[in-house]
Amino acid sequence: MSYANLRVEKKDGVAVVTVHRPDKLNALDDRTIEELESAFADLAADASVGGAILTGAGGKAFVAGADIGELSSQTPVEGRDRSLRGQRVFDRIATLGKPVIAAINGFALGGGCELAMACHIRVASENARLGTPEVKLGLMCGYAGTQRLARLVGKGRALEMLLTGEMIDAQEALRVGLVNHVFPQESLLVEAESLLRKMLANAPLSLRLTLDAVNVGLEMPFAEAERYEATLFGLLCTTEDMKEGTKAFLEKRPPRFKGR
Ligand code: COA
Repeated sequence: MSYANLRVEKKDGVAVVTVHRPDKLNALDDRTIEELESAFADLAADASVGGAILTGAGGKAFVAGADIGELSSQTPVEGRDRSLRGQRVFDRIATLGKPVIAAINGFALGGGCELAMACHIRVASENARLGTPEVKLGLMCGYAGTQRLARLVGKGRALEMLLTGEMIDAQEALRVGLVNHVFPQESLLVEAESLLRKMLANAPLSLRLTLDAVNVGLEMPFAEAERYEATLFGLLCTTEDMKEGTKAFLEKRPPRFKGR
C-alpha cells in the first residue's frame, strides 16, 4: 500500500510507520489521519506483523500537532467530527492487539503527543520535547489527550501540562513516566526495535491478551478487572502456544510459538 504522508516498512515481523510531512514538522492533517487509520487496519490484519514502531520523518519532529491550518477554519460541527475521527483512529492504534512503540524523535506536541500516548510504550530521543499547547490556540486536546495524559502521569502533572501548554524535555518526560527510555537520536530506532523484538520473542496471544487486560482492566473496578484477567488467563490455557511454552521450559529448550 502506498501513502502520501506515511511511509510503512515491514521487516521480519516489525512494521515501522513514519509520519512523513517533514516540511510541516509532520503535522497531522485530515489526510494523514485517514492514512494512519488505513495503515493500522492493514497492520492489524497482517499476520506477518507482530508489532509496530511509529515515528516521524526528519530529525526535528515526531509530530508537531494537528494541522493548525485546517483547525483555523473549522465550524463547531466540523471540529467535533474531527475530534471524534481522530479519537477513533488513535483508539485503533491503542487496541491493535500487537505492541506499538512510539519512537519520539523530536517535537511531540498536541495531536503528536496524543498520538504517542495512544501507543503502548514511548521512547524518546534526547532532543525530544513533549507538550499539549492547544490552550495557546484557544483550543484543547481533542484526540483523547486529556484522558490519556492524566492516566499516564497522574491528574496533577497532566493538568499542569494541559493548562500551561508548556513543553517538557525528554528527561522530564522520563521522570514523570511519559516516556520509558531516552536514547541518543542516532540510536533511537535501533533501541526501539530491540525493545519491540524482546516482546515479539514471546507468545503473540499472550501479548495480545495482556494488552487487553491492562487497557480494558484499568477502566474497570478492581475486582471486575481481576475476574476479567482470570478469564483471559483461562483463554490462554486453550492455546497451542501455552502447551508449547510450558513444555519447552520443562524440556529445557526455547519455545517455538505460532500464535495459535
Ligand atoms: N500545523 C501546521 N503547520 C505546522 C505545525 C502544525 N501543528 N507545526 C509546524 N508547522 C509548520 C510551520 O507552519 C512551518 O511551515 P512553513 O515553513 O510553511 O511556514 C513549518 O512547519 C516549520 O515550523 P516552524 O514553526 O517554522 O519551526 P520552528 O522550529 O520555528 O518551531 C515548533 C517549531 C514546533 C515550536 C512550532 O512549529 C510550533 O509551535 N508548532 C505548532 C505546535 C502546536 O501548537 N501544536 C498543537 C496543534 S493543535
